[in-house]
Amino acid sequence: MDPRQSMLSRLRAYRPTAPLSRDFYTSAADYQVELETLWYRDWQFVGHDCEIPRAGDYLTVQIGEYPVLVVRDRDGNVRAFHNSCRHRGARICPDAHGNAPRLVCPYHQWSYRLDGALIAARDMGGNFDRSRYGLNPVHCARVGGYVWVCLGAVAPDFEPFAAQIEPYLRPHKLHEAKVAFESTIIERANWKLVWENNRECYHCPTNHPELSRTFPSTPTVAGPDTAAGNPRMVEQWGRWEARGLPSRFQLSASGQSRILRMPLVGSAVSYTMDGAAAVCRPLSDSAATDDVGALLLFHYASTWSHVLGDHAISFRVLPLGPTETQLTTKWLVHKDAREGVDYDLPRLTEVWLATNDEDRRVCQENQLGVNSPGYDPAPYSPIQEAGVMQFVDWYRTHLVARLAEGSG
Ligand code: FES
Ligand SMILES: [Fe+2]
Repeated sequence: MDPRQSMLSRLRAYRPTAPLSRDFYTSAADYQVELETLWYRDWQFVGHDCEIPRAGDYLTVQIGEYPVLVVRDRDGNVRAFHNSCRHRGARICPDAHGNAPRLVCPYHQWSYRLDGALIAARDMGGNFDRSRYGLNPVHCARVGGYVWVCLGAVAPDFEPFAAQIEPYLRPHKLHEAKVAFESTIIERANWKLVWENNRECYHCPTNHPELSRTFPSTPTVAGPDTAAGNPRMVEQWGRWEARGLPSRFQLSASGQSRILRMPLVGSAVSYTMDGAAAVCRPLSDSAATDDVGALLLFHYASTWSHVLGDHAISFRVLPLGPTETQLTTKWLVHKDAREGVDYDLPRLTEVWLATNDEDRRVCQENQLGVNSPGYDPAPYSPIQEAGVMQFVDWYRTHLVARLAEGSG
């Protein structure tokens, strides 16, 4: 059977109260369908615009089989291109970050302007028309300091998502921040296992001794219903919103993205071992007091993100194979905060470096057990795993809709 049809019929038969079957987490054919149907067609978070503040600053990212280049041009726009030279296809920028006044392919030195136009190509003969061989663009959009790309021929409408999250992010001024530290780890687990683990804290008390000091392990807000049943949270949202900090739980209609602000444990204001701020200079003057809780954002399938008063942490999820996922974490602080003076890097990063490593371990163990022909999962906990169900439900609905297009 055609792999797309096979996945469509299995997804249609799936009952959304229990984990997916083993093939979804192990099969190379399913993984390829996911790349084509989801990873190459949705908006993917790639990085922050504060990482490329000057003309010629660039970052690169690999999304499935596509190397992508994101660059700031001379007019201050952020553009994305296929990182594949129009001559014979070499990657133009092999490094993860850099700056270049023009983009010069290392192979035969074809040179492109920052807007992608080909400006030099040696010995191509008199009839060669340079204007036909500019870099091929990739859709690129920005909101609240986050840069996104979409590899599809037609990108989904970015506006509803941008309108949903921009007011929440605005007070934190992430486009003016800087990345204090970045870490990339490889988890030997399917990307959905990484997400499912992220969407519950059932595993937190025993697996995350560091994070559990400040991040509540009890299920807080999985959806508007639980929010209404949590009057203390609703009151707290009212107080924050009166101070100009949008806070209320919002889930997009498709279930692909969510944003809300929530309090940390007790009097904690940051993800540190003692709960005190890690950075003495607040991330933004508009949200300068300690009491701003944690702004939690996710957008399936490439990012979840936490914004606190003193710093922000973004996580970028990219699939490397059916059972391998790359997780890149960035710690953002005020652009003028000085390391060793305003913050201590080990103190800023220790909780999430430990948490990521703990999550890597549990996800890898999860994958090893799911690989077993004896894998036979129970239904999800309705109390602890509503977030996981929401993720799986989004995945199923999203893929069914895409796979059903044109399949009759
Ligand atoms: S492949 Fe880039 S110049 Fe030849
Ligand atoms: Fe975790």
